[in-house]
Amino acid sequence: MFLSIGWILMSYLIGSVPFGLVMAKAVCGVDPRLEGSRNTGATNVSRLCGTRYGLVVLALDLLKGWAPAAGAMTFSDNWFFLSLVGLAAIIGHISSPFLSGKGGKGVATTIGVFLALTPSALIISVLCCVAAITISGYVSLGSLTLGAALPLFTLLTGKIGFLPVTLLVAVLIYWKHRENIRRLATGQENPWRKKKTQGQ
Ligand code: G3P
Repeated sequence: MFLSIGWILMSYLIGSVPFGLVMAKAVCGVDPRLEGSRNTGATNVSRLCGTRYGLVVLALDLLKGWAPAAGAMTFSDNWFFLSLVGLAAIIGHISSPFLSGKGGKGVATTIGVFLALTPSALIISVLCCVAAITISGYVSLGSLTLGAALPLFTLLTGKIGFLPVTLLVAVLIYWKHRENIRRLATGQENPWRKKKTQGQ
């Protein structure tokens, strides 16, 4: 019991480490909360500092979800406990005590969590996400696709126990992307790369 509660708290703390903010401040001296989409996630770091740094943040944010979930699976197969561990990491990322309750949009950490918990459903969902980004050019549309695809493929791959947490995470992802949804609907969404100016 104490181990389970401690693990969930540890997962929340790991999830709340703001890698995007640290990376953007360290490598290009910008605060991603004040520029671009004002998000601390990999997409905005990529937009502000370059793709390679965005990819590093993506990997670190993914690891924040994967490590506590995969670690919990070594001593428990209880889907409710594992769902809470995963959810704690994602909520830590979205609402970090190190950022006064603010944070990213949770997508990379979600990918990490479900890579551990429901790998087949996650991989198919990521493929849908990549297809949406490739076709549209907007990472946010890919993230929204992933949020919708994950519960669907969790159901279709028979991991019913994890269906409630995937639905909850989908709601969180859509809520965190409400400004992106508005911009997509009005044709004002930010591309994931800085537009090149003439002569560049
Ligand atoms: O995962 C975040 C992505 O979907 C959108 O990021 O910076 O364009 O709001 P951003």
